Amino acid sequence: MPDQKDDGEIIESADNTQTRRDWLLISTLTLATAGTAVGLWPFIKSLNPSAEIQAQRTSKIDISAVELGEQLVAQWQGKPLFIVHRTKEMIEKAEADDGGTDPQADSERVERPEWLILLGTCPHLGCVPRFEETDEYLWVCPCHNSTFDYSGRVLRAPSPKNLQVPPYRFISDTEIEVGEA
Ligand code: FES
Repeated sequence: MPDQKDDGEIIESADNTQTRRDWLLISTLTLATAGTAVGLWPFIKSLNPSAEIQAQRTSKIDISAVELGEQLVAQWQGKPLFIVHRTKEMIEKAEADDGGTDPQADSERVERPEWLILLGTCPHLGCVPRFEETDEYLWVCPCHNSTFDYSGRVLRAPSPKNLQVPPYRFISDTEIEVGEA
């Protein structure tokens, strides 16, 4: 309760002043949080593909321009898609073993050995791995350094799984269709 002097002046008690200061702080923080949320919304929205994109069950992709040893990053249902035109050496490395902690034969992951097609999102937390050709691996995740071999199989944690192979088929030697109709 405020105290009152003899001349009628109202004196705020320490408690009351504290309460007002708290309220101002809470209001400011609330506004700041709301501002941050508004600021983040376009970013969050950009990470969520629109319903229209997700509704496109299949995508046709021209792979004729992908040179040997190179990667094309395409899109499927709003997600990155890695298409690698593997050289003979890359295929040999992929076929030399079954990968690391999530073993799988390379032959089970490709339709044609010279074409490796993968979803470009890390199974750990969804970052997009970087194409980086080394003796040991072909991708490294920029978020927590998981590595993936020449078949997209995980070699180094924390990713618990291999890069996923999406459903796809060859329409011709130069075009694939990704997804299931
Ligand atoms: S998101 Fe790729 S290792 Fe964590």
